[in-house]
Amino acid sequence: MSVARDIPSGNRTDPAADPRPVLVTGGAGFIGSNLADRLAGEGHRVIVYDAMTRPGVERNLAWLQSRHPDRIDHVQADIRDAARLAACIRDAKVVFHMAAQVAVTTSLVEPVEDLQVNLIGTVNLLEALRARGDGTPLVFASTNKVYGDLADLDFQLAEEAYLPTDAGVRGHGIAETRPLDFHTPYGCSKGAADQYVLDYARSYGVPTAVLRMSCIYGQRQMGTEDQGWVAHFLIRALKGQQITLFGDGCQVRDILDVSNAVDAYLGAWKRIDAVSGRAFNLGGGPANAVSLRQLLDFVGQIIDRPVDVAYSDWRAGDQRYFVADTRAVDAALGLSPKVDWRDGVTRLAQWLAAEGGINLPVGNPALAQSA
Ligand SMILES: NC(=O)c1ccc[n+]([C@@H]2O[C@H](COP(=O)([O-])OP(=O)(O)OC[C@H]3O[C@@H](n4cnc5c(N)ncnc54)[C@H](O)[C@@H]3O)[C@@H](O)[C@H]2O)c1
Repeated sequence: MSVARDIPSGNRTDPAADPRPVLVTGGAGFIGSNLADRLAGEGHRVIVYDAMTRPGVERNLAWLQSRHPDRIDHVQADIRDAARLAACIRDAKVVFHMAAQVAVTTSLVEPVEDLQVNLIGTVNLLEALRARGDGTPLVFASTNKVYGDLADLDFQLAEEAYLPTDAGVRGHGIAETRPLDFHTPYGCSKGAADQYVLDYARSYGVPTAVLRMSCIYGQRQMGTEDQGWVAHFLIRALKGQQITLFGDGCQVRDILDVSNAVDAYLGAWKRIDAVSGRAFNLGGGPANAVSLRQLLDFVGQIIDRPVDVAYSDWRAGDQRYFVADTRAVDAALGLSPKVDWRDGVTRLAQWLAAEGGINLPVGNPALAQSA
């Protein structure tokens, strides 16, 4: 019997219409916990499938469980455990797949582990959905790293930021039509998983969508030097610690507040019939493009003192510039305007300061602006 297909797609996100749980792999992580919180807040039961390998995510899980004691079920298991995964998927009405080895740096040290978690783990998930054969949808967290280092683009330096000389790219960012070009083991494992997810829609009719994300930032991000750089910069700056910039710091990223990312995941689920088999670039877009140096200048305004910065060599696969062309995702998923990066970064600083018991300077214009 087809379960998901019996439910009109407009009702797929309505918990009253379908009381089965939602499965969020990596649901204790940064994006996963924000998504799980939104889902539980809307009345869905959520299975948080997470091996708890990332240090600090136990705080996210405790936060989720305290906010939604009756709606969060944690399964502590590895994405490579195919049998456990299949058992959890059996009853789910949709799967959001976030669990991953998330750092490029770690993938260079342990490429086999990275492959097993990111690619084999994803195929485990796809196989479980194929075996169910009832149209249960999957939305996958992919990355802009699938486009490689964009080394063919020419840039000019302006105000401590790389800007593409191509007017089309400068105006709109990188579109989904950009050829795939996997760099680093992380780029390869996530990129291959991205392609498998799309192909299971093509070959087996599993309704899937892929979101190739730029840098997402926001509350509950356990940022480190290896991954989650916006939170990492803020944590170090708030503690008065030095920050190492790899490269010249003029690299540009379009940063996206996690609340907007959650909107996109829910939108992809709601509109899965229209978007199945498609991949979208998801980021802050040109309006939220900022170089690392520009972001650090802003952080300096928040903490009311210059940030202590050191420089080191460029890291493998690092893009001089990545800004997502979000026109396709905005149109297909009906997304609303994005949080301005200055507001979002200020809110993250306030949250991190509160978490760490650090006082921010009172009367700071950067803080007053976002209040
Ligand atoms: N944060 C970003 O800016 C960003 C950008 C592009 C893509 N992504 C992708 O989005 C997803 C979520 O990223 P995030 O920033 O929330 O990362 P995160 O590290 O906060 O979350 C990942 C979660 O997966 C869990 N996990 C790791 N290995 C596992 C395994 N083998 N089995 C089960 N659980 C496991 C971790 O414990 C963690 O809770 C990842 O797939 C990542 O590749 C993130």
